[in-house]
Order: sequence, then C-alpha cells, then structure tokens
Amino acid sequence: MTHDNPAPVLTVDNLSMSFTLHAINRFVQSLTAVSFTLYEGEHLALAGASGAGKSSLLRCIVRNYLPNSGTVILHDGDTTIDLTALDDRRMARLRGRDFGYVSQFLNAPPRQGPLRLVTNAALRRGLAHQEAEQAAAVSLTRLGIEERLWDVDCSVLSGGERQRVNLAAGTVSPPRLLLLDEPVSALDPANRALALEVIEDLHHHDVSVLAIYHDMTVIRRVADRVLLMDGGVIAADGTPDEVLSAGHTVLDEVFA
Ligand SMILES: Nc1ncnc2c1ncn2[C@@H]1O[C@H](COP(=O)(O)OP(=O)(O)OP(=O)(O)O)[C@@H](O)[C@H]1O
Ligand SMILES: [Mg+2]
Repeated sequence: MTHDNPAPVLTVDNLSMSFTLHAINRFVQSLTAVSFTLYEGEHLALAGASGAGKSSLLRCIVRNYLPNSGTVILHDGDTTIDLTALDDRRMARLRGRDFGYVSQFLNAPPRQGPLRLVTNAALRRGLAHQEAEQAAAVSLTRLGIEERLWDVDCSVLSGGERQRVNLAAGTVSPPRLLLLDEPVSALDPANRALALEVIEDLHHHDVSVLAIYHDMTVIRRVADRVLLMDGGVIAADGTPDEVLSAGHTVLDEVFA
C-alpha cells in the first residue's frame, strides 16, 4: 500500500450468489455473505481451490453475474456508486474508464488484431487517438507481443499470446481499479516474468488491484493482502505472511 490512510475504492458487502441448474435440478451456492474492502493502491490477491468462487466474485463485481443479495460499492472521492443497482449503459461506461476486468480468456471481436484491441481499450480510458496507439504499442512490446503479430486476428493467437494481449488491454493507461482473473496462469517462465513486471508496476500508478492467483510465490511477490476463499466464503483475510503461513488446510489443496 502506498498511503498511510488509504481511502476505500471498492466495498463488497454481504454478497451472496447461487446458480440453479434447471436441466439437472441442482442448486449451486457459489458465494455466501462475502464482505471486504479494497483500498487505494492496494493489491489484494484472491486464492482458493478450484470452484471456491473466485471468478464468480469478480464476475459479480463487473456485473457479468447478478448476486442474489448484497452490494458492491465503488467509491469516487466522497461519492459512492452501487454497482449492483446501475443500469447497463452507465456500467459499460464505468467499466471502460474507471475500472478494468481482465478475464481468464481473451474475448476479442472478430477480425480484430492486438494493436486495434489494445488501442480501443486506451481510447475508452480517455487517451487521444495517436497517444492511445502509442501506449498500445508500448504495452504490447512490454508483454513480449512482437510487432509482426499486431495486425493478426486475435483468434489465431496462441493461448499465452492471447493472455498477454488481454493483460495489455487491461493495463494500458491503467484504470484506478483493475480486476485480474489468473493473469499469469498460462504463461511460460519468460513471459510470466514480463507479465509480473507489468502487474508489479501497477503499484507505481496507484492502481487498486483485485487479482486471482494460483501461485504462492506470485502472491508473496505482488500482493499486499490475501483473501483465501473456501466453498464460497472468505476463510482468511490478511497479509500474505499471515494467511499463507497460518496452516489453513485448504492451502494444501490450492498450492499442492
Ligand atoms: N455460469 C454458471 N452456471 C452454473 N454454475 C456456475 C457458473 N459459474 C460458476 N458456477 C459454479 O460456481 C462455483 C464457483 O465457480 P468459480 O468459477 O467462481 O470458481 P473458481 O474459484 O474461480 O475456480 P477455478 O480456480 O477453477 O477457476 C463452482 O461450483 C461452479 O461450478
Ligand atoms: Mg476461476
């Protein structure tokens, strides 16, 4: 954290969410009474076993999923915005400008190359066209996406290339809040190192980050705080040292 008395950026309060799988007559409770606050400039890691509810939590915050109950509040100075009650148009505008979401998989419009995709993300964050294209080129280069790939349709890129293009779009001219779903999971060691440098650098831009990681070394390196999720609830909330050394049984499963 970069400030002594950091201001809250995002407050998730009592969030619960379930799915009803009608076809097989089953009910899945994916989040139960999840509450936490993310502060300005803080890097908060989400850890937990597969199926613990980590991606569901991010999707509820960006409103890809609607929670059954609870609130998600975005703070803007003294103003607060309840994201769960926002109409789709205002939500889309906020998502482009104020906060970014890097999903696990790149979802690019057809026939769009990396440069166009990342430039569009920078334009949505308010950069002028030429500036946006320059920033996109810098972002792609930092993440090891060679110039020969900049105009290639994103659908033909490899999994690791897509993940890095996705991260470039999320971090170009970074928003003040960034949600990352396993941003380094499919990368080889060299590209993972590039991606981690970009992610670490967010600290210097006062970006608040909520990110899912499956690697304890990564969490210790980049995160200020960890939320450990287990079966849709927050099982622990503390510094990486506190949470990762506390002997939670779920950790054996997560980081085996
Ligand atoms: N769209 C959906 N429809 C039905 N069930 C879902 C849906 N999305 C998630 N779930 C269920 O909610 C639970 C939590 O899933 P979630 O994707 O949040 O887990 P996760 O912690 O991100 O796991 P992983 O580490 O494997 O990505 C799982 O049991 C999952 O099957
Ligand atoms: Mg997930």
